[in-house]
Amino acid sequence: MSADEGLAARRAALVALKAVDEEGAWSNTAIPAAVSELPEVRDRAFASHLAYDTLRWSGTLDWALGHALSRPLDDVEPALQRVLRLGALQLLRTGVPARAAVATSVALAKEQVPGKRAQGAGGFVNGVLRGLSRTVDTLPWPDTTDAPVASLRLTTAHPSWVVLELLERYGRERAEEILWADNEPPGLTLRATGDRDALLAELRAAGLEVEPGAVADAVRAPGVDPRELAAVNEGRAVPQDEASMRVVLATGAGPGDDVLDLCAGPGGKSTHLATLVGPEGSVTAVELHPHRAEMVRRSAARQQVPVEVHVGDALAPPLADEARFDVVLLDAPCTGLGTGRRRPEVRWRRQPEDAAALADLQNRLLLAAAERVAVGGSLTYSACTWTAVETVEVADGFESGPLGPDFERRERVQLLPDVDDTDGMFITGWTRTA
Ligand SMILES: C[S@@+](CC[C@H](N)C(=O)[O-])C[C@H]1O[C@@H](n2cnc3c(N)ncnc32)[C@H](O)[C@@H]1O
Repeated sequence: MSADEGLAARRAALVALKAVDEEGAWSNTAIPAAVSELPEVRDRAFASHLAYDTLRWSGTLDWALGHALSRPLDDVEPALQRVLRLGALQLLRTGVPARAAVATSVALAKEQVPGKRAQGAGGFVNGVLRGLSRTVDTLPWPDTTDAPVASLRLTTAHPSWVVLELLERYGRERAEEILWADNEPPGLTLRATGDRDALLAELRAAGLEVEPGAVADAVRAPGVDPRELAAVNEGRAVPQDEASMRVVLATGAGPGDDVLDLCAGPGGKSTHLATLVGPEGSVTAVELHPHRAEMVRRSAARQQVPVEVHVGDALAPPLADEARFDVVLLDAPCTGLGTGRRRPEVRWRRQPEDAAALADLQNRLLLAAAERVAVGGSLTYSACTWTAVETVEVADGFESGPLGPDFERRERVQLLPDVDDTDGMFITGWTRTA
């Protein structure tokens, strides 16, 4: 730990927490950016750990803090809420001595509320965290048998509706495994944009411990920071979860195919598709948001693959009316709960109403996508989530809808972090038969 006894690390963690709270940043971007300012590797690791875990455990931390506060946590100013959560995390879930957790939190509180109110802010945080440290071993955890949802909510750090959703779909034992697996930060996975063996050899020559992944082109590189890899910076490898690679492989795209990728930004799958179809094929990418369409262009340029990018609405794509494709991919906008290992705050950002609203959009997008498939071609639907309404219900609705009889199912799978060690991705596909 550096000379300031870890204060700088905790300060960096707070910077990231603020970006996530107030700017809507995602932690897997905000945390590496905030900790990169710290000169010492140990401080960077400690700050990252604190920030990710504070986000992951925030529901449980808020509950615990509720037992030490005389007013609702929501009534405390946001900057001090973050200091309290960071302090509570250290008391509940780290081996940091209580004295150090409280003292550094008091120091940060004074920094967060400068001027005349600094002393008061420090005193307030001191009182709450000292109170929590006294009661931390006697908190009234709900009974796991009588109140499984309330219990799993706190012990596995997920909102009740997510717990309930998994209990209903998978039963108690599996749901618990999924919830715990969703709390395990994943190691880095890369997709080789060229020869995988050559990439493995390059990374091993640099002293890294890497292994081939479960699917073609995948390389598992646990503990590696992609920003420090020349292979990534020079386009020979792309950081990508194996679940995303499996979506692309499920499309069946091969040399010479004309592909339509309807929700393309930031382009991870468009560029993979372009690699598979080669120079005889084509990839047309549609993306609603111009800045995300630009990300597709930049990614294609970096990997030196051709992708024709259009800014437009996939519900009415900016394409000729008669345009039909051998392969159509709809990687739909969704609640993204399946990415929770990498950005744990997603579970707290999403509400059940979001899943319902997105499902409505997904149903309409899937019909629009199906229209564009040539007879004999393939249609693939994927969503990086596990709510029933955004996954099986969309697929079932399509199969029993007006276009269902023209499509024959190829596959349907829900990847989950406990068994597959990937993002929680739903993938289904059909062949157009008429
Ligand atoms: C799950 S992300 C796609 C990820 C992308 N396929 C990849 O692998 O990099 C969904 C994307 O759909 C875009 N989107 C949302 N609504 C859309 C619409 N109506 N038409 C086109 N794109 C849309 C979002 O902006 C977002 O970039």
